Amino acid sequence: MNTFYVTTPIYYANSLPHLGHLYTMIVADTIARAKRQRGIETYFLTGTDEHGINIERAAEKAGRTPKEQADYVVSYYKKMTSEFGLDTAHGGYDIFMRTTERFHYQGVSELWRRLARARTPRGNDAIYKGHYEGWFCAACAEYKTEDEYQKPKNEGDPPTCLIHDTPLDRVSEESYFFRLSDYDEALLSVYESRPDFVRPESRRNEVMSFVRSGLQDLSVSRLTTSVSWGVPVPDDPAHTMYVWFDALTNYITAIGFGNEEREQKVGFEKFWPALHLVGKDILRFHAVYWPAFLLAADVELPRAVVAHGMWLDPNGRKMSKTLGNTIELDVLQKHFSIDAIRYFVLREMVFGQDGRFGYEGLIDRANSDLASGLGNLSSRTLTMIGKYCGAKIPSGVIPEDKLLLAKRTGVDTDETTVAGFIETARDQYLLHFENLAFSRALETAWSIVSRADKMISDAKPWDLAKDENQKQTLGAVLYRAAETLRWLSVLLHPIMPGASQALWSQLGLEGSSAQINPSELKWGELKEGTAIGDVQAIFPRIDKAKTMEEINADQKPSGAHATEADAVTGGAPATKPEPPMKHATEADAVGVTSFIEIDDFAKVDLRVGQVLSAERIPKADKLLLMKVDVGEEQPRQILAGIAQYYEPEKLVGRKVVIVANLKSRKLRGYESQGMVVAASYGEEGRPVIATFTEDVPNGARLK
Ligand code: MSP
Repeated sequence: MNTFYVTTPIYYANSLPHLGHLYTMIVADTIARAKRQRGIETYFLTGTDEHGINIERAAEKAGRTPKEQADYVVSYYKKMTSEFGLDTAHGGYDIFMRTTERFHYQGVSELWRRLARARTPRGNDAIYKGHYEGWFCAACAEYKTEDEYQKPKNEGDPPTCLIHDTPLDRVSEESYFFRLSDYDEALLSVYESRPDFVRPESRRNEVMSFVRSGLQDLSVSRLTTSVSWGVPVPDDPAHTMYVWFDALTNYITAIGFGNEEREQKVGFEKFWPALHLVGKDILRFHAVYWPAFLLAADVELPRAVVAHGMWLDPNGRKMSKTLGNTIELDVLQKHFSIDAIRYFVLREMVFGQDGRFGYEGLIDRANSDLASGLGNLSSRTLTMIGKYCGAKIPSGVIPEDKLLLAKRTGVDTDETTVAGFIETARDQYLLHFENLAFSRALETAWSIVSRADKMISDAKPWDLAKDENQKQTLGAVLYRAAETLRWLSVLLHPIMPGASQALWSQLGLEGSSAQINPSELKWGELKEGTAIGDVQAIFPRIDKAKTMEEINADQKPSGAHATEADAVTGGAPATKPEPPMKHATEADAVGVTSFIEIDDFAKVDLRVGQVLSAERIPKADKLLLMKVDVGEEQPRQILAGIAQYYEPEKLVGRKVVIVANLKSRKLRGYESQGMVVAASYGEEGRPVIATFTEDVPNGARLK
């Protein structure tokens, strides 16, 4: 049976989604829609990776259980995928996979059991018990070798992760190992015999040289006493599985591996093998470890592993919450249409390479390629059909006796010129698409837009309309333009489903362009006499200055960060996590903000204070209760959500900045009469209290 299976990585349930996550989903969604359009039964998986120490820690920090933490993040993902039209209801993913599902536990356990029985190509046990000694990065969920970490400055401190810049965990414990070192030859022969297995080629070369340089056995379990939030190792509950072993396996458990019910519902036999889309940072897991596990378990390998690049900011810097250059999905969604966003990311990033994302670039492209390009072609064509042809698709034929006159006025009377161009462009477009070269495919599609624009400006329909003898010639030119639009609507369906359908309906066509196989398009099938629909701008022009101003106003202020806010969220009861509010990404410091007047600033009464005492509060692991002298008769009582970062004793005597005119409020039964100002940085929003290096009296005002 003709089926197709495409996957995104499953996203860590420790933090909220951002542009990088959205991007892979858009790519997978585009591929899935293109396959469906060709009548191929397609299964599209996305989801969340919910186990492991990192989730456990994020949950603890937020005062939730790990499952509550996962539910919280999933609720946000579901909201995001719905808003961006990527969920099942909008024709997007077929499953939002969660590794906490029972069927997943069963499937992973089945894979483990198979591995535990397996022999490597060199005749050894594929899994064995040993002792692991080394460094582990919780954020990467990866063991780090010496060349993969930064040595500590002070002896005795742990090394730090080169990617996350966070301290590594020392692991020294009993562990099950997967004998990866016995799979180098088998893997190399896969890469060699299947040059398309890892794509693009540059990544394939990297993977091959990594394998050639020698593989080490992989620790695939942790003691339950160290990491309890995971899938138990079958027949040995003292161990939980390594989170990547559990996570990678989701690709097969989702469709029925190791679970009869899922097999009935979806079908492992039916859909496997998958095309895996991943970011280049997690390629090793997908192109080395995963195929090795599957080889050991005697399960067919994936169809391919395709790695895309990273989104950088417009200056080419990595996006990070600390730099404040991340793209917030709710801001994106508020100011741009889904189709414009899809078009931009697919057009802008050369698949496989890093791309740059900036709001200004997005507006420029939306205005030039969409509003002035395709949008203008469609509105001018349809408006002219309305005006000159009674809002019905005219005939595409120029009668014999009118040919000469038509030629004389600059019309190319040979219909096959434009039809031939478009057919060739369609074939190229589909080829690029098949190779996942979306940017090139779109360039090709836009060559069709330019060709049609040229045809119109050469023929000048507005002049033809002045001569009754040219009526049919005018009709033929507009027919060709309309037929071109029909083709574009079909070709662009997977990229911009909403706009393509709007175009389809405006052409007066029934059904959906999603149902037309682009390779079966035939020139001239647009029926003469079809009444066109209401003509509306498919891509309204974006006012750049106004939109940028609004975006800047929408982004959260950077820099100084009030810790009371942390205290409120951090100290909130750990029951029922609410889905995050609009704008509640976990990034706190965000780029350039909107400007305020000096009077606005003057409303905030910032004062110098001195901490007289500080203590922890029972059952509120984030809050410190402080008495602060701000030069008033009585010291103020202030609560701050900094207990995880500051020892209370060390704060005593310290000069701080407080917001003195903030309405007092109760937190955990204690009144807080102001708040302490702190910077916030890093993934976890670590607070750093603002202080003074020079002597300054208590109560002095900051202005
Ligand atoms: N949970 C693992 C994947 C397990 S798959 C069996 C994981 N999760 S993640 O949430 O950290 O990242 C998911 C994906 O987001 C990765 O493919 C990563 O490359 C991608 N991106 C994260 N930041 C990105 C950009 N700035 N740009 C593009 N993609 C990026 O890894």
